Amino acid sequence: MDFELKTLPRTRICSEKCDALVVLVPQDFSSTADPVSVLVALALKSGDFEAKPGKLLITYRTPGIAATRIVLVGAGDESPKNVRTAVNAALGALKASNAQRVVLCLSALNSQHPEAVRAAVVACSDAVYAYTTTKSKASPAKLQRVVVGVSSLADTKAGFNKGTALVKGMEFAKEWANRPANHATPTLLAGAARELGKLPNIKVDVLGPKEVAKLGMGSFMAVAQGTAEPLRFIVLHYEGAAKAVAPVVLVGKGITFDSGGISIKPAAEMDEMKFDMCGAASVLGTFRALAELQPALNVVGLIPASENMTGGSAVKPGDVVTSMSGQTIEILNTDAEGRLVLCDALTYAERFKPKAVIDIATLTGACVIALGGVRSALFSTDEPLAQALIQAGESSLDLCWRMPLDEEYAEGLKTNFADVANIAGRAAGVVTAAKFLQRFATRFPWAHLDIAGTAWKGGAAKGATGRPVPLLLDYLLSQVPVAVAGKVPARAKPVKQRAPVSKTGL
Ligand code: BES
Ligand code: MN
Ligand code: ZN
Repeated sequence: MDFELKTLPRTRICSEKCDALVVLVPQDFSSTADPVSVLVALALKSGDFEAKPGKLLITYRTPGIAATRIVLVGAGDESPKNVRTAVNAALGALKASNAQRVVLCLSALNSQHPEAVRAAVVACSDAVYAYTTTKSKASPAKLQRVVVGVSSLADTKAGFNKGTALVKGMEFAKEWANRPANHATPTLLAGAARELGKLPNIKVDVLGPKEVAKLGMGSFMAVAQGTAEPLRFIVLHYEGAAKAVAPVVLVGKGITFDSGGISIKPAAEMDEMKFDMCGAASVLGTFRALAELQPALNVVGLIPASENMTGGSAVKPGDVVTSMSGQTIEILNTDAEGRLVLCDALTYAERFKPKAVIDIATLTGACVIALGGVRSALFSTDEPLAQALIQAGESSLDLCWRMPLDEEYAEGLKTNFADVANIAGRAAGVVTAAKFLQRFATRFPWAHLDIAGTAWKGGAAKGATGRPVPLLLDYLLSQVPVAVAGKVPARAKPVKQRAPVSKTGL
């Protein structure tokens, strides 16, 4: 979806020609003499409309107003969250109409907060997004372009730019997450990463089975040994700061299909295990957004990508493998494969001497039971990192919740046959998975996000959410050094030529 930011003073709202004019009305709406204000005041007075978040009133060809349709939508206290609710409701209602040119008017709000504008832009994309890649007769969404009208460009520009970058990142993440597993193999995922490598300050390396074997990633290789699809280990670099600046490393679980392996999953909803690469998709999406914003940071992305399948060569329950760290692992359940691919990626991360390492994974069904689709589970051994991630979740409306890492939770991972087992009992499965990963994350500040409940929705609205790209992006932006008087922070290097738009959704 494309966006344009435009100054739209309240006096000019009525003459804005468009198919649909969406006016966000705050609870303390102050009326002026212009026709749109008069309409809002009348609607409020009659009781036909309320400024509560998401309440709607749609009028058609209204005298004195140039827009064909006018959508009044309540924005409550104008908080970014309420703005999101309002825009979602309004654009959701317009999806069924023929409206193409939409103006989203934020100038009736009392403040012009950049975060509200960011939330509005992201909500537009969320409300209108439709996956089409593997449909033969898909007609592209009618609503492709939104003009955002504000009373002050200066106040809103930064929020708008963040929002449009986020939309590019989230749409990229959704596209790859939604693709069926036969259209998003490890090799194709590496291709998507390579496309990102054409964008300014992004470099991509892809390792195959031979290189991964040479690195000694015995745990990752064990997961990949049961599938005909060759594994890929994808390494992305975003270089926006001087080489000496320690990077943040993002590690995304890239299981392109999780059948469970020999410990096979039940048939019901097994199709949803194509989403088991949503961690990887969120890393790709975050890099897409970084390419837009060009912050003064270094970021590394690591994606261990493989299918988890059954077959004559598949790893068996009880097999013991040696991870890249040297630790031996007894694979008691082949369905606990996410931690097996992530542990080797965490060890690989050590070579970057990172400032922080964050892994993102659809790791456990237990996480869905614990937190549902509202908050991702956050684990961290580092207090400042944990606080920064919680803060980023709140500011981006992409929430997470801190979970414990007490040593007692690791008790069940003990085994007589290796250094560690890959599963513990049924209790606290979301925590024991994190405890397993923690053993491989001792050399840097580390955080783990279990996004099993938040990365996609099931049911009629089945599809990827693009989460936690907003959280990750806000965290990364919070790490950009602030200019101190007399000191100039490291700047992003000059940008290369923009790459052409391609079929991969760039
Ligand atoms: N990818 C799944 C986790 C998952 C399951 C996410 C359902 C979302 C919905 C993961 O690889 C897995 O299978 N985990 C097992 C671990 C268990 C065997 C200890 C699980 O959660 O059942
Ligand atoms: Mn599994
Ligand atoms: Zn899995």
